[in-house]
Amino acid sequence: MIIEPKVRGFICLTAHPKGCEQNVVNQIQYIQSKGPIEGPKKVLVIGASTGFGLASRITSAFGSQAATLGVYFEKPPQPGKPASAGWYNTAAFEAQAQEAGLYAKSVNGDAFSNEIKEKVIGLIQADLGQVDLVIYSVASPRRTNPNTGITHNSVLKPIGQSFTNKTVNFHNGVVSEISIEPATEEDIENTVAVMGGEDWKLWIEALKAADVLAPGALTVAYSYIGPALTEPVYRKGTIGRAKDDLEATASSITDTLKDLDGKAYVSVNKALVTQASSAIPVIPLYISLLYKVMKEQGIHEGCIEQMQRLFQQRLYTNGTVPTDEKGRIRIDDWEMREDVQAQVASLWAEATTESLPQLGDLEGYKTDFFNLFGFEVGGVAYETSVDEMVEIPGLA
Ligand code: NAD
Ligand code: NA
Repeated sequence: MIIEPKVRGFICLTAHPKGCEQNVVNQIQYIQSKGPIEGPKKVLVIGASTGFGLASRITSAFGSQAATLGVYFEKPPQPGKPASAGWYNTAAFEAQAQEAGLYAKSVNGDAFSNEIKEKVIGLIQADLGQVDLVIYSVASPRRTNPNTGITHNSVLKPIGQSFTNKTVNFHNGVVSEISIEPATEEDIENTVAVMGGEDWKLWIEALKAADVLAPGALTVAYSYIGPALTEPVYRKGTIGRAKDDLEATASSITDTLKDLDGKAYVSVNKALVTQASSAIPVIPLYISLLYKVMKEQGIHEGCIEQMQRLFQQRLYTNGTVPTDEKGRIRIDDWEMREDVQAQVASLWAEATTESLPQLGDLEGYKTDFFNLFGFEVGGVAYETSVDEMVEIPGLA
């Protein structure tokens, strides 16, 4: 079939297998161009099919020749109906990895469930014995707690008072004011239940109990901080409470891993266009201004550049892992540079529907958004019919 983007707000209902494949190939080539990393050898990536998780998997496999096991929640294709992007990404990654002689298998299902945890542990026991790195990169709007059966929905709201600021509809470039009412106590609890550290901890406890964590094993989850501009809706809002919880969970997991000499880290990453971040109000305008400034200064990075730097310059240096005073790894260092943030803040004050095309990188935002789904990727013949029924080689 010929596959075209079908956009509804901040999601795209279709994905292109060849475009997703090309994205993966480009990321592999980037990692290969940066040379080998003395990194992990057997890696479990939870949230492995898109964004930072996919980039972590590619960096592990093609940077340090690691066997990788991926977990994700993606929609398979049906005749005449394309799969979700993460499905095609994973199909392309596993084909490339297996061709390169690297173990690459995956499990498609709800990572929050006990059933999927057991399935993954069974696979590690059968195929790998133990893993030496566990990446936790799940981003989801809801979670069913396997122990209570309660489904929690996360919200993106300020806490304490309503928040009014500019936002952009990135499809038509219209800049407008948005007001968001403050969260209730229940909203905060639900968001922490979905995006906080509880499931990460349950994973590590289950893996440890099954003796599938190697001595010295590391585990890393991803967080975000961002500038004062976005604080009310991000770091000091409901999602920020979840990130506080995630960061606190890192030290509690480190305690759990003491006898293995293992360690848990949170890495604070840069703001990027992903399926998760396009859903947050105000953030797309911030990202389009940030991209403009960082590209002009030659310091812009995507997920793969960020993960390459995380592995090579933070996690696997043969020295101590550099962290901030709260024990967090910072690869948002270039985003948070004072000169970068000063420029973004002054552009923010000026941004209107009329001025944004000059002031910001709305085009870059849009291209990245379409790229997430395999569209507008260079070198792909979109006018040619493709087979939507792509299989994932290592799907267990
Ligand atoms: P993403 O949407 O690209 O990836 C989410 C992944 O989680 C996908 O692989 C998806 O299949 C998987 N997933 C979702 N629900 C699942 C479930 N129930 N079971 C199994 N897998 C499931 O998101 P991302 O932006 O790469 O986010 C990953 C992490 O990075 C999040 O913690 C996010 O907060 C953090 N982060 C994101 C940004 C950003 O700007 N995008 C910046 C810093 C940190
Ligand atoms: Na991810």
